[in-house]
Amino acid sequence: MLKAVILAAGAGTRMKSKLPKVIHKVIDKTMLDYVIESAYEAGADEVCVVVGHMKDEVIASVHKDVSFVEQTEQLGTGHAVMQAKEFIGSEGQTLVLFGDTPMITGKTLNHMREVHKHQGHSVTVLSAVVEDSTGYGRIIRDENGYFVKSVEHKDASDLERQVKEINSGMYLFESNQLLEALDLLTTDNAQGEYYLPDTLISIMNKGLKVDAMVTPDSTEILGVNNKVQLANATQIIQKRINEGWMLEGVTIINPEHTYISKDAAISPDTTILPGCHILGHCEIGEDAVIGPNSYLADTKVGDRTMVNQSTVLESSIGEDTTVGPYAYIRPNCTIGNHIKIGDFVEIKNAVIEDGTKVSHLTYVGDADVGKQVNFGCGTVVVNYDGVHKHRTTIKDHAFIGCNTNLISPVVVEESAYTAAGSTITKEVPSYALGIARAKQVNIENWVKRKRP
Ligand code: UD1
Ligand code: CA
Repeated sequence: MLKAVILAAGAGTRMKSKLPKVIHKVIDKTMLDYVIESAYEAGADEVCVVVGHMKDEVIASVHKDVSFVEQTEQLGTGHAVMQAKEFIGSEGQTLVLFGDTPMITGKTLNHMREVHKHQGHSVTVLSAVVEDSTGYGRIIRDENGYFVKSVEHKDASDLERQVKEINSGMYLFESNQLLEALDLLTTDNAQGEYYLPDTLISIMNKGLKVDAMVTPDSTEILGVNNKVQLANATQIIQKRINEGWMLEGVTIINPEHTYISKDAAISPDTTILPGCHILGHCEIGEDAVIGPNSYLADTKVGDRTMVNQSTVLESSIGEDTTVGPYAYIRPNCTIGNHIKIGDFVEIKNAVIEDGTKVSHLTYVGDADVGKQVNFGCGTVVVNYDGVHKHRTTIKDHAFIGCNTNLISPVVVEESAYTAAGSTITKEVPSYALGIARAKQVNIENWVKRKRP
């Protein structure tokens, strides 16, 4: 049994934000969500988050299967873990993580589990060697390299402060040992807090094995305390994700200006041009071209499709289709294959079938559009009467003339035409021309009379 306790009760005042620290986002996901995912990736069976400061906002931000315990007063990291005693139980192991260290990976935590098991540790602390160890707890070792203790910066001697190996704040404990050690914690230290690192000493004093495992990549343990560090975390995670996709065969022209969610999936030989945001659960096929400057969220894009300078939200686009430049596809659209969605086209909650062209300056909202339909420039599906939304149907091979208003609900039958400038309020039968506009009248010499 592996449990994970994630500490997220602190205020994070240095963020200077009205939001609690751990719910700030890196790309598209909160810092806390990254940590929860890493805990599960490391094989945690259950995860518990310790909340305190603005707990309702923190709880509301989490969409994963976790439990919460409250720490009403922030009396230190040891005290925070005490709140989860019941959750921890006395079987198996417990991982302790922080909600503000989003760079930690499941891979490193897994490695820590292996070391812990093979070395027979009762506690394994994750440590790192850093250039500037100011502020961190230091890992103190004896002349043979054996772990002695972890001492907080404020409690450390001048000599101890020179140590570059730091305590990351992340641990793997034998749960029964953790519970016993929590009971022995005191606040007898420079900050008057219950220090979690002090549990290491009492566990070691029982003759049990305690050691620190140095992580090879010290960026993984960096905490985020302010918005400079948040931007830094974004860069590190962005680089990790983008390099992952490039190694899988995706072409990313400028990785520094490309933001891809950890939840996205992209096939080889697709090109991502600069300035793209590919957020949430996107799935992009092969040989597609995305961007420049496209914004995709929770969207599927088929093979060989281009999405040029466009926004697509919660929709699916088929193969060999082109979108943009400057198209806006809003949630719940299903767009098929060999389709053209051109410039300044907005589509919402609509189905568009194969071979249809919506080339320019058109709004299609709440509509079912068949195959090989052609939309003239400036068409509006008038889906909203001020009170209700209505749905319109345009069947295969229909031809919608320029500047047609389709007053929903209305049906344009198969192979029907609408005349340019028509406001269509009634069904247009198959093969008919629907024409709904005033006949042209020319008033002779009108201009001469007006301006003699
Ligand atoms: C802690 C460690 C230090 C380590 C450093 C790594 C202790 C005493 N010190 O120091 O050895 O080098 O992390 O970043 O553990 N939290 C609570 N409740 C509390 C106190 C803290 O939930 O009562 C949470 C905070 O929200 C934060 C995390 O625990 O996410 C760490 O707390 P923080 O006060 O930042 O610890 P440090 O002083 O940085
Ligand atoms: Ca900290």
